[in-house]
Amino acid sequence: MELNNTSALVCGGAGGFGEATVRRLVATGAHVVIADLAEDKGRALEAELGATTRFVSTDVTDEDSVRNAVAIAADLAPLRSTVVVHGGPAAGRRMINRAGEPYSLDVFRKTVEIFLTGTFNVMSQAAAVMSTSEPAESGQRGVIVTTASIAGFEGQVGQTDYSAAKGGVIGLTLTAARDLAPAGVRVMCIAPGTFFTPAFQMEEADAQAQWGPGVPNPKRMGNVNEYARLAQDIIENDYLNGTVIRIDGALRFNV
Ligand SMILES: NC(=O)c1ccc[n+]([C@@H]2O[C@H](COP(=O)([O-])OP(=O)(O)OC[C@H]3O[C@@H](n4cnc5c(N)ncnc54)[C@H](O)[C@@H]3O)[C@@H](O)[C@H]2O)c1
Repeated sequence: MELNNTSALVCGGAGGFGEATVRRLVATGAHVVIADLAEDKGRALEAELGATTRFVSTDVTDEDSVRNAVAIAADLAPLRSTVVVHGGPAAGRRMINRAGEPYSLDVFRKTVEIFLTGTFNVMSQAAAVMSTSEPAESGQRGVIVTTASIAGFEGQVGQTDYSAAKGGVIGLTLTAARDLAPAGVRVMCIAPGTFFTPAFQMEEADAQAQWGPGVPNPKRMGNVNEYARLAQDIIENDYLNGTVIRIDGALRFNV
């Protein structure tokens, strides 16, 4: 899918992976909507990147909010690509605590609501708009890139809610690609290992010292530009569809 003069929606576009993706897509000549809850960061990025970029205050768990962001993106140019890369909570507690009490069902529900239901909300609404657009010369109408995690395959202790939600995002990939094939819309999922982003809430050197040595090769955390390159390649390569790509330096989370 050619990006130049098309519109791209990046949900979570003010975050670590999101910002790197927005910058990359803007550099291709695409119009980019930064859809995020974070007003300050989103507006600063919009101001820096200029006229082809729009910040739209968006909550991925809210239907009207996502519908608005998708409509604004589709008004700028034909909406051809959507990257779903918003963050959410990471409680990190075992299913049963030391006192033998079960994990909070409310927290579990909230995590699944943001990571899985929020992803579905963006995918389905973006696909609905893409499916009504004039196809590109290739016959394709669009591509949706979601973000899981390697924890969706091998969740660590204390990650039941997160790994369940990310496993759901992985499971959606092939089914959605099949559902949307008649519309000429592809669906791909990226499952990152450990990347340094603001989500870590610490200095990069400290994070690298803690998580870098556990990665087989290269022995460091991932860089957000490595994620963004992959997202761009997925968008541009029409033969990538219906699968999950791990980007993790061969990291496998163990117990
Ligand atoms: N950083 C990693 O190592 C890593 C590894 C695997 C998977 N991931 C996944 O990548 C995604 C992005 O992570 P990140 O590290 O860039 O996080 P981040 O905290 O840097 O950015 C997340 C962004 O999402 C936005 N956001 C949060 N809730 C939202 C909502 N309801 N609606 C719209 N926007 C919302 C935040 O405002 C923020 O700008 C997450 O889904 C995360 O699970 C990250």
